[in-house]
Amino acid sequence: MKVTAILLAAGQGTRMKSDLPKVLHSVTGKPMIWHALSAIQESTTEKPVVVVGHGAEAVIKYLGDSAHTVLQEPQLGTGHAVMQAESALKGKTDLVVVCYGDMPLLRGETLKKLVETQQDNKGPVSMLTVVTDDPRGFGRIIRKKDGTVDAIVEEYVATPEQLQVKELNVGAYCFDAKWLWDALKRIPKNPKKGEYYLTDAIELASKEGLPVQAVIMEDAEETIGVNTRIHLAEVEIAMKRRINRDHMLNGVTMIDPDSVYIESDVKIGRDTMLMPNTYLHGKTEIGEGNVIGPNSIVRDTKIGNGCKVLASVLEGAVLENDVDMGPFARLRKGAHLGNHVHMGNFGEVKDSHLADGVKMGHFSYIGNAQIGSNTNIGAGTITCNYDGEKKHPTEIGEDVFIGSDTMLVAPLKIGSGARTGAGAIVTKNVAEDTLVVGMPARAIKKLERKIKK
Ligand code: UD1
Ligand code: CA
Repeated sequence: MKVTAILLAAGQGTRMKSDLPKVLHSVTGKPMIWHALSAIQESTTEKPVVVVGHGAEAVIKYLGDSAHTVLQEPQLGTGHAVMQAESALKGKTDLVVVCYGDMPLLRGETLKKLVETQQDNKGPVSMLTVVTDDPRGFGRIIRKKDGTVDAIVEEYVATPEQLQVKELNVGAYCFDAKWLWDALKRIPKNPKKGEYYLTDAIELASKEGLPVQAVIMEDAEETIGVNTRIHLAEVEIAMKRRINRDHMLNGVTMIDPDSVYIESDVKIGRDTMLMPNTYLHGKTEIGEGNVIGPNSIVRDTKIGNGCKVLASVLEGAVLENDVDMGPFARLRKGAHLGNHVHMGNFGEVKDSHLADGVKMGHFSYIGNAQIGSNTNIGAGTITCNYDGEKKHPTEIGEDVFIGSDTMLVAPLKIGSGARTGAGAIVTKNVAEDTLVVGMPARAIKKLERKIKK
């Protein structure tokens, strides 16, 4: 059976007071509409149709080929919005799910339940409802004696008695497609506003004696729709809790989950511990048995197992296993730290590979560099990689000892086993096992390398 979703996302979102279309505002690092589409993907069989209007260009650009789009111009109500999808879908689907782009907490499994209910329904439509004391301006559900839905009464036309009804229309429906296309032609234009309301299709079915089934949702939180930035913050917090709960159930420890912010795509292995004020963004992947934070920001970074990242900022980096960094270390794009690397306070690494066992204790900048294993980078070392026009590479061998405050003027190669004296300014390549000192540094003697293992 073919099940296709129509996602309504043409509304203006005036109350967001934003230049960005509402459905592109981010919730846990992904546009709101991404969350709606992933719920749809779990519960339908075909590529969805998104109805766009306000900010259409930006929304279409974001969607790419993840969805078909149809333009609703002007926006004449939820019924009118669904009408726009008819030509794209007629004859191509058995069931049509309708939901909103601004309800990012709605779960795929809830939509699945809705679809299953409609599959068993002899009538043409099933809908989601929620029972709550906080009506949020939603339409009230009026039931028939037999328990099926009779009508949906919008708040602004409801009688005082109807306003007391605690069962509300969520705005998500599953229709028999054939019936829907025909019913849309029969729904009346609202005389006051000149709009076409999808809710009137429900009333049509009921008037024709066709049963409308309702699935009462268990978790009212799923129905929070975003109309203002206050709702956006509510949704963000709820989604964050949901994400954190899932990670904890998968074996991640958080001593204060309310202070841990994890975006939707992040992966974390078991027995990793996330300390307070930790932010994990983008396509970050973290292995097992790590301790991240307190006070760390990690974006688009891969971390192996057994690492410690204390009060540090990592972006576009790779850490292998048992890396120990911070406090106050910074990794920028292309930083790659091998096994057992130690990086202490106030260091920065960019576009560089530090091989296994490199130690970089304090106050250094390493950029465009390859550093061999077990090399020690003394405090205050700088790779002077930029001459004002171009970046230049630095290559440092294994078991090198770079003395404190060494300036490595790139392009430069330092052979394995070499040493630089404190304060050296190195402008020429240094041969293996050679000690250089001074400014600019010149060779003064040949060394015998001690191999520490
Ligand atoms: C609608 C329902 C109401 C329900 C509520 C739940 C109708 C008439 N009323 O209310 O019963 O309780 O949702 O949130 O359907 N949209 C378009 N094109 C339009 C109009 C709306 O794409 O022409 C989209 C909006 O972008 C939004 C969604 O549809 O995502 C809902 O529209 P909104 O105006 O918020 O619906 P309400 O009238 O508040
Ligand atoms: Ca709304």
